[in-house]
Amino acid sequence: MSTSPTAPACRSCGGTLREFLDLGAQPMANAYVPPEQADEEAFSFRLAIGSCVDCAMVQLIDEVPHDRMFHDAYPYRSSGSTVMQSHFEQLASRFLAGELTGADPFLVELGSNDGIMLRKIAEAGVRHLGVEPCGDVAGAGEAGGIRVCSEFFEEKLAARIRAEDGPADVIFAANTFSHISFIDSVFRGIDELLAPEGVFVFEDPYFGDLVAKTSFDQIYDEHIFFFTVSSVRAMARRYGFELVDVERLPVHGGEIRCTLARPGTRPVSPAVTGLLAEEEAAGLTSPEVLAGFAAGVDRVCRELVTVLEEAKAQGLTVAGYGATAKSATLLNRCGIGPGLLPYVCDSTPAKQGRLTPGTGIPIRTPEAFRADPPDLALLLAWNHAEEIKRKESGFTAGGGRWIEYVPRVRIQGT
Ligand code: SAH
Ligand code: TYD
Ligand code: ZN
Repeated sequence: MSTSPTAPACRSCGGTLREFLDLGAQPMANAYVPPEQADEEAFSFRLAIGSCVDCAMVQLIDEVPHDRMFHDAYPYRSSGSTVMQSHFEQLASRFLAGELTGADPFLVELGSNDGIMLRKIAEAGVRHLGVEPCGDVAGAGEAGGIRVCSEFFEEKLAARIRAEDGPADVIFAANTFSHISFIDSVFRGIDELLAPEGVFVFEDPYFGDLVAKTSFDQIYDEHIFFFTVSSVRAMARRYGFELVDVERLPVHGGEIRCTLARPGTRPVSPAVTGLLAEEEAAGLTSPEVLAGFAAGVDRVCRELVTVLEEAKAQGLTVAGYGATAKSATLLNRCGIGPGLLPYVCDSTPAKQGRLTPGTGIPIRTPEAFRADPPDLALLLAWNHAEEIKRKESGFTAGGGRWIEYVPRVRIQGT
């Protein structure tokens, strides 16, 4: 662990960052490579993570400019998972029955992607606005009947929305707030846009789950922050808000949903104090726990490479399942290329026919996987394990076995 002289200040409090894990030179995780560019040298940056000595906010050390990661051809589509569709439908129903029952309510979502959450709000005829900077995916949302503004959310945009649409009762962000490094501007924007009694609700990967599952592949260019209840509460207070509720979520390998409100407008839920006490007891961001996490990363990588090398030596065929952003970190950190993993399948049209970033593994369709199933499949989209195993029951019925690496490396049946 070291405090790099070049390390930036904590993006939340300005304090000193102490690095605890360096995952090496990594590409942008969602930058799938067209085959004709396979030989071109790709952009890479040092993927390293640290925690703030003062407020314990866990965050990337270096970052990629946001408009380099999020652009019109951004390939990620939220609606590729039916489990995530029902997750967001349930949340929309909850908003519709609770926060959005006043006169002419208004909800703004940051990072609305293809409209996975806003569809239900739009169907209910409730005023809404999705803020989604990436053009193609914003267009997919609009085609689904939602209202979208294709820009990055920040202070000036928030002021414009407020002037045109009035105050928001709910500002919501799923898997987006942790992607934004310029939180000063975002918080000023939220302060501007949020109604006096409104709530800012966001859900993102929970650092407690990363530690519990050694799920270090959650660390990639887009994930700037890894929240804990303690660091979110401190951040909220610094920007004039209070963390009033927190909920653990099973999706995407374990997340927390945080609700922020203006101080004094809502009671603080016992869930906040409960989870704070758990984090404290576990020493979640203590140097010992962070060093243990880093050691776990080395172990997972070593064991996974051994499994793949042994499979190859035995003449077994292997494929990856899910060209996730996460898997860029895993594959690059482990040095796994087409030699050990000849292809990866993925249901996202914009990824098919391309190569995985940094490791050059061809991406095929799930139909190709089914037509000629391998002996072993490395479950890269491990956060969708249940959904994928259900969908691919024919793979195991035909004698195929899954290789998993979260929370530990194992081959099914061994
Ligand atoms: N909410 C969806 C999408 C998450 S992917 C889900 O949970 O599945 C993150 C999204 O945030 C991307 O679509 C990206 O374009 C968007 N995004 C990134 N920076 C943003 C910003 N400053 N304002 C609004 N959206 C942003
Ligand atoms: P996801 O884990 O949601 O996110 P990230 O890319 O941020 O790590 O990505 C899931 C990927 O897996 C996505 O590219 C779609 C793909 N996928 C399938 O191919 N089949 C499936 O049944 C599901 C659920 C996902
Ligand atoms: Zn800090």
